[in-house]
Amino acid sequence: CSSLKNIGLEDWVSVGPSAELDKTGQLLAKESPVGPVLVFGTSKSGNLTAVSLSCTHAGCTLGWKADTKKLVCPCHGSEFGVDGKVQRGPAKEALKTFAAKIEGDSVVVKL
Ligand code: FES
Repeated sequence: CSSLKNIGLEDWVSVGPSAELDKTGQLLAKESPVGPVLVFGTSKSGNLTAVSLSCTHAGCTLGWKADTKKLVCPCHGSEFGVDGKVQRGPAKEALKTFAAKIEGDSVVVKL
């Protein structure tokens, strides 16, 4: 993607305020620079994970099912765990995951 040309590989980008993450232990960033991502953790847990919400089957945006703690695809029913691993097809490939951390008041993920 040419709009990302000037961004180095080691860059961290903000996906939202850390206060938002602390409220529920999750931060949904629908339009982050890395596409839709869901970040899990809190500013105190020190162990944040960010997982892409783009389904690896055909690219639909996944929804979060709180009761089963799964990411579910509305298009063809694929299911993924919070680690991005496929739990149910037709998707075959794991979701992309990103390193995440708190920087100041922001949650940042590594491009
Ligand atoms: Fe997600 Fe087909 S696009 S299951």
